[in-house]
Amino acid sequence: MQNYDQLKNEILENINNASNLDELEKVRVTSIGKKGMLSVLMKQLGSLEPNKRKETGQKLNLIQKDILVSIGNKRNVLGKQQLDKKLENEKIDISLPVRPEATGRIHPLSRTMDEVISIFSQMGFTVAEGPDIETDYYNFTALNIPKEHPARQEHDTFYFHPDENGDRKVLRTHTSPVQIRTMENTTPPIRVIVPGRTYRSDHDATHSPMFHQCEGLVIGDNLNMGHLKGCLVDFCRVFFGVEDLPVRFRPSYFPFTEPSAEVDIGCSRKGGELKIGTGEDWLEILGSGMVNPRVLQNCGINPDQYQGFAFGMGLERIAMLKYGIPDLRPFFESDLRWMKHYGFMPFESTSIHYGAN
Ligand code: PHE
Repeated sequence: MQNYDQLKNEILENINNASNLDELEKVRVTSIGKKGMLSVLMKQLGSLEPNKRKETGQKLNLIQKDILVSIGNKRNVLGKQQLDKKLENEKIDISLPVRPEATGRIHPLSRTMDEVISIFSQMGFTVAEGPDIETDYYNFTALNIPKEHPARQEHDTFYFHPDENGDRKVLRTHTSPVQIRTMENTTPPIRVIVPGRTYRSDHDATHSPMFHQCEGLVIGDNLNMGHLKGCLVDFCRVFFGVEDLPVRFRPSYFPFTEPSAEVDIGCSRKGGELKIGTGEDWLEILGSGMVNPRVLQNCGINPDQYQGFAFGMGLERIAMLKYGIPDLRPFFESDLRWMKHYGFMPFESTSIHYGAN
């Protein structure tokens, strides 16, 4: 009996000394596990004489119970310790001061594009897109600019190397080819705008070889020049935020519209400072016209049934005018000082509203 108590005390001490759950498990296996000391002793009971067997059996059972209880208690203690340690190690110190994060700015061109899209979407336009690399047909021919037409020279086109048939692809010189792609794929009525990149070989303070335009196209069965004027006067007034902004339609020429008009807005240039909305001067801001019946025909639309109007504007140009940016070149130089000065905070509202809402 003496031996058993000693054994029990040793085991209880081992349990007590276990410093983690793994060690505790080892003690459990070597004491009361299948091949543990106690189990071996219990197996030996059979060889004892009946009296001794009963007494020893009871004793061993009690010892096993004590060990189980002790292991259970120790497991709780160690488990809690281990969890506390983990929580301590994984703690995030939220008392650290935040790093000075630089806030980004919205590029004035992105802002302008968002504003233009917002205004026209409130008039029921949807946005269409097309490829930057165009065929000669979509960029020129379908728009009633045949080969040898003088308008081709005016566009300072970037041409790709000719293919085996001698056809040269171009970087689109305007967004107008998307008019053609839209009319080929849609049955009227049509009301789309096309913001996107355009390219011309030209580079100075107000021209960049890559720039952006926004095209507009409306096709329906009862449209006239009055609709064109109403739409564009509204657009100019909302975009520039001047309710009574003077807007002038000046006769012009584009091969793909007939008649054509350039749109000017009233301004003053007194003392070298440009002010939009008042004064004697005019600023040209977009090209427009009634879609040439030949263009409709090229797209399989019957010009006796449908008419429409189209317009196109340079987005950098109207951004420069609205936000007083004198030079176009820094638009694409990614200079953060320039962005900080001319850019917009991300959550600043555009305060653009068209119509009653
Ligand atoms: N595509 C013309 C340009 O790039 C603009 C325009 C578009 C004019 C649609 C009339 C109608 O200058």
